[in-house]
This record gives sequence, C-alpha cells and structure tokens, in this order.
Amino acid sequence: MMSKKLRVGILGATGMVGQRFVELLENHPQFQITALAASDRSQGKTFAEACTWRLAGEMPEFVRALPVQAPQPPLDCDLVFSSLPGDIARETEGNFAAAGYPVISNSSAFRMDHDVPLLIPEINSEHLGLIEAQKTFRDGQHGFIVTNPNCSTIMLALALAPIQKFGIESVVATTMQALSGAGYPGVASLAISDNVLPFIESEEEKIEQETLKILGKLSNQQIDEAPLKVSAQCHRVNVSDGHLAAVRVKFKDKPLLKDVKQALSSFSALPQELKLHSAPDQVIVVREEKDRPQPRLDRDAGNGMSITIGRLQPDNVLDYRFVVLSHNTIRGAAGAAILNAELMLAMGKLK
Ligand SMILES: NC(=O)c1ccc[n+]([C@@H]2O[C@H](COP(=O)([O-])OP(=O)(O)OC[C@H]3O[C@@H](n4cnc5c(N)ncnc54)[C@H](OP(=O)(O)O)[C@@H]3O)[C@@H](O)[C@H]2O)c1
Repeated sequence: MMSKKLRVGILGATGMVGQRFVELLENHPQFQITALAASDRSQGKTFAEACTWRLAGEMPEFVRALPVQAPQPPLDCDLVFSSLPGDIARETEGNFAAAGYPVISNSSAFRMDHDVPLLIPEINSEHLGLIEAQKTFRDGQHGFIVTNPNCSTIMLALALAPIQKFGIESVVATTMQALSGAGYPGVASLAISDNVLPFIESEEEKIEQETLKILGKLSNQQIDEAPLKVSAQCHRVNVSDGHLAAVRVKFKDKPLLKDVKQALSSFSALPQELKLHSAPDQVIVVREEKDRPQPRLDRDAGNGMSITIGRLQPDNVLDYRFVVLSHNTIRGAAGAAILNAELMLAMGKLK
C-alpha cells in the first residue's frame, strides 16, 4: 500500500533549478509540493503569475494557483528543497534547519561545513551519519541540512568513484559549462555569442575542494578527505543544457584500460539496489563512438540522471583521459537533490 506523501516546499521555486524541481516532482510517488517561496519580486503572487516557465512544455497545472511566499519558516511542509542563490542561502537555510525542517539544498552555502553531508547517493550514503553531528540546529528539534555538490563536481565525482579502487593520484578537469548553469537571465547574449568565457566565479575552487570531500571517508563523525589532487579549469560555452568536462587521471599503479572501462560501465550502487524512483538503471553510459558524448545528444540519458563518458583512452602525460557529460539542472541540481531525499527517506532520515 502507498504510504502518505511527504509535503515539500521549494525555496527559489521560480528559478532555473526551482522550475526543474516543479517538473520532476509532478506525480512523484513520495513527495508532494505544498509550498513555494522566492524573492519579494514574486511574493504574494500565484506561481503562474510570478514564474515565466522556461522549460519545454507547459507549467504543470497542480502548481499554477499555489501562492509564492517569503522563504522563511513556517511553511506548510515537512521538508524544504532549496535552490536559493548562494549569498542568501546560508541565513535562510539555517533558519529553516533551526526551525526543525530538513533542508535539502543545491546551494553552495553549507557544502563544505564539516558536519554537513555533501551527498551523492551512489557514492557516499554513509556521510548521512554526519546529520547526528549537526547539534547547532537540533536544540530538541529535528532540522538539519544535507547538500548536493556543484553541478560539474557531481559528474566528475561519479566518473571517479568507480575507479577510485585503482588508487587515483591526480585529476585534471577542463569543463565546458552550459548557459542554464548561470540561472536566468544568466550570461548576456552579447558576451557569449561567438565566444567562450574562460571564467566562472568560484567554480574551479568548488570542483577542487568538493571532490575530495565527496570521495572521502566518514570516520569519528568527520570526513577524512580523499588523498588525491584535483586541478580544474572552467569555461562557459554557448550550450543551453549539459555540462561537459575533459578529464585526465593519473593512478598510483596504472590499471588496464579494459578494467577502467569495465569499472565505469558496470557501476551500480545503493540507489539502484533500492530502486529509488529517480535513480537511473545505468549510472554511467560509456560510449564507444569517437564523437560522443555531446550535450544535445546525451544530456537526457537516463532521464537526465545518467552521466555519459566517451573518448576513454590512454594519455601521453597522465595515464588515461575521457570526456564526461551530465545534465546540469537535473543530475547536477534538482534531480540530485530529489535523489538525495529519496535515499534519506529509504534510510529513515525523513519522516
Ligand atoms: N543552474 C544550475 O545548473 C545549478 C546547478 C547546481 C546548483 N545551482 C545552484 O542553485 C541555486 C539556484 O540557481 P538557479 O540557476 O535556479 O538561479 P536563478 O534562475 O537565478 O533562480 C534564483 C531563485 O532564487 C530566488 N531568489 C533570488 N534572490 C532572492 C532573495 N533575495 N530572496 C528570496 N529568493 C530569492 C529567485 O526568485 P525570483 O524569481 O522571485 O527572483 C529564484 O526563484 C544557486 O545557488 C546555484 O548556484 C544551480
């Protein structure tokens, strides 16, 4: 028998990621949107009045008449998903956690806090043990914060996790990131037409730092970072959705190419075992064609929740190189947070 759905609020509901939340939560078997919040520009309006729908298809009917509220507790929901800008997320998400709400966030504000899980369900479900360490929010309440990584970090970490067993020494990643990653209106059209921008604020630091935490091990209520070096360079390119990265990896002892390929293509983990609603059957699609992955052709693999790897080959400087792609607002943002919540529900961390 289907149990009652948990009621969720979306903070930043009118934005690029917020709209993905709305799209992905329509008809979700375990979650039902009951509250929406955004800036004072949108507050007091219905969602249909406040939000210019920028995804393919129509705005879902169920959400049109819901009022857009201020992002402050109380909201009529059991947990909140947050896609607020980083600069206001820290105070706002902290307020919700302090008021007793589980906060499942996309924002960067709390990702590197020592007691906050930076969760990718296929990689580090044991990091959810950190929730118990969030005593500052507890005060007899049940609020806490769980974050998902930066959109480029997620695909890099998913590509590295299955080959970590071979002993990764260093990683060099060069990203080509889609326009939707900058929110709306994002980058000015005159800046990006006929152009590539070799700078995205704080992005390189996020990839270099977050990857080590995600691949680290939980021990004594803290994360021991993975002992590898990551170097990232990030570029904004004229693509609507789908981040791409060219990656080179050096191992302590170079494994065989066929073993690397096998480890990537057969990667399967707890979300697949538990058959979580948003978990893709195939976490990593490995393509053999010499001109794949491509954003337009591969971003929707596994309903946007699979990552795609191609061009896997030996490298003259480091050991192996490959190209990885993922959908930045699905696996890189809203879909990632929803999968986090599905795992937490399955593990008894949400009620
Ligand atoms: N886009 C991606 O691929 C991606 C991937 C991973 C993580 N993220 C992170 O997710 C967050 C949202 O990104 P986005 O791309 O969805 O941005 P966005 O399109 O600019 O949307 C921002 C949302 O936050 C609301 N907001 C802005 N200022 C506010 C304020 N002062 N008080 C309350 N609400 C406010 C906006 O409401 P109004 O419409 O009322 O202004 C809107 O709903 C960011 O932290 C970003 O770093 C984005």
